[in-house]
Amino acid sequence: MYVGVDYYPEHWERKRWDIDAALMKKAGFNVVRLAEFAWINMEPREQQFEFGWLDEALEILGKNGISAILGTPTAVMPAWVAKKYPETLLLQKDGTRIAWGVRKNNCFSSETYRLLSKKITRAMAEHFSGNPNVIGWQTDNEFGSPSCLCDSCRLEFHAWLEKRYGDIGSLNKAWGNHFWGHLFSDWSEIPIPVDQGVHNPGACLDWKRFNSWLNVRFQKEQLDILRVLCPDHFVTHNFMGLFKDLDYYDLAEDLDFVSWDNYPCWGKPEVRFDASFAADVMRGLKKKNFWIMEQTAGPGGWGAFGRNPHPGEIRNISYQQLAHGADGQIWFRWRTCTAGREQYWHGLLGHDGRPLRRYDEAALTAREYHRLEKEIKDTTVVADVAVIYDYESIWALDIQAGYGGNTFQNAVKRYYNALFRSGTNVDMIRPSDDFSRYKIVIAADLNILEDDVADRLNEFVRKGGILLADCRTGVKDISGLCHARTLPGKLSESLGIEIEEYESIPDDMHFDISGTGGISGSFTSVSYADWVKPLGAKPLAGYRQWHMEKFSAVTRNRYGKGSGWYVGTVVKEEGFYDQLIKNLLDEAGLKQSIIPPAGVEVSIRRGKKKIAFIINHTEEVKTVAVPSGKLELLSGKKTRKKLELGRYGVAVLKL
Ligand code: GAL
Ligand code: ZN
Repeated sequence: MYVGVDYYPEHWERKRWDIDAALMKKAGFNVVRLAEFAWINMEPREQQFEFGWLDEALEILGKNGISAILGTPTAVMPAWVAKKYPETLLLQKDGTRIAWGVRKNNCFSSETYRLLSKKITRAMAEHFSGNPNVIGWQTDNEFGSPSCLCDSCRLEFHAWLEKRYGDIGSLNKAWGNHFWGHLFSDWSEIPIPVDQGVHNPGACLDWKRFNSWLNVRFQKEQLDILRVLCPDHFVTHNFMGLFKDLDYYDLAEDLDFVSWDNYPCWGKPEVRFDASFAADVMRGLKKKNFWIMEQTAGPGGWGAFGRNPHPGEIRNISYQQLAHGADGQIWFRWRTCTAGREQYWHGLLGHDGRPLRRYDEAALTAREYHRLEKEIKDTTVVADVAVIYDYESIWALDIQAGYGGNTFQNAVKRYYNALFRSGTNVDMIRPSDDFSRYKIVIAADLNILEDDVADRLNEFVRKGGILLADCRTGVKDISGLCHARTLPGKLSESLGIEIEEYESIPDDMHFDISGTGGISGSFTSVSYADWVKPLGAKPLAGYRQWHMEKFSAVTRNRYGKGSGWYVGTVVKEEGFYDQLIKNLLDEAGLKQSIIPPAGVEVSIRRGKKKIAFIINHTEEVKTVAVPSGKLELLSGKKTRKKLELGRYGVAVLKL
């Protein structure tokens, strides 16, 4: 198993490199990521390459048993690029080029920048392909810059649209350009929809798709070179978890595996729902295990820094990712830099370079990982519950939320967090995926719903599946036009309901809802309400407000061999979602072998063996009921009925 750090030898004197490598070795580290911002060090002048320094660093690391992942360095263009080729700099909304001097400053459609990117990638690939200490590559760094508004980007947008729609009439139809007299007669008339809050939603959606495609193409150009010249190396990219601007499924497609950057330690210590959610999204991109390419090693910040991970937290954060399928883990960064914008982004070592508490904790974790390695080999998370995670709907809702505060991720979290609290693993899937291998499929806020997806969801239910949908699902088609149907459109079939009207609930108002069977207790409906009319479905919760009395808040419909559940509002209390999820799990016959108390997470990796990770996310001691007589792999002891976990404690049970 690869465990290590992000390392910047170019930031330190040559004489320190041996000390660093020896300390890494001592910690049990066996991998570093290098050079992703070192373009200027490798190509100080155009077409003059200098790799000697990196060869030397690799050799020192290699002697200490440390392999390397090299970053293609295109996230920071050298100053000479900006000076010589100003057209490679991103054009901003105000019509000026971005000031060089940060990073991610480039235009992705610039022919020049693409050529320079290919040249440095090729030079690196040629030079390092035979180096025994190099095992793989990271493309660029965290794709997802703001979009560039230059003429070259606009022209490429036109070409992209022409390819997608064929003729201008089809584009007019897809975007609904009869509205406000926006019909085009020629591609060249099409502007960049700069303001996503007021431009035509269809145009905005395509602009997002186009920008995503630009990044994917840029990466592909590097990949094509790496695949030919370095066939023995893997290629990955460091994704940003819940980042929304790129279609991460597309970006992941040509990579060997996904890696991601996990910085969950910001505010007060709390249960890391989002880091778990992001991990599942990352595993879902290629339906396989992933790596962590950067992970919290200390307080972080570009101006003011945040909280120091409390004792045990560095290890806790790492185990959560291991539990969700991280097969390689790298801390950002090795030593805190004394210069530049990230002087306060702390690494495992401080500015002084001494191996202290954070180093010790990472070393402990690394050593434990090496001991666990053979037990977790060939295991991954296998889930019976799937949540549809869809970038088209993410974008459609960012362009038009429907009701205030509505985002796709917020909607998914309502259900995801309840599943987390119940100790249930979840897969994130695409709308085009096969639903039949799951017992429960959740389509929360799936705003863009194509007919064939709706048909397949209905079929999934007919054949015995459990579908849970909620508000604003199925509103739009793939172009971002509203379906000309009564909601929930085609899903009426499996959900057994009809929604003729709906409304936002202003922040200073709420509705009261209470269970009418299936759901018990009273809850608060906020933000939004569908006026749900059950056709064949059974109401499980209803409203108390006079104008809502005849409508349902929650329904369940028997359809074929399965059932379709619908939640037509946002509920304030978490307890509501816990109850709902429990109902679904019971109906699906899904029983968890370990039920976590509040603040504790359970995630299971399966292969030939079943390995349960039990993680305490709190600063209190927690007692967890577990099956007895199981081997706890970290202590080597057999379990009794109860297991005690200290602050941020972790247990790994072989079930
Ligand atoms: C990441 C980035 C790193 C470093 C880190 C801390 O997003 O990939 O290079 O900047 O954040 O800011
Ligand atoms: Zn551009």
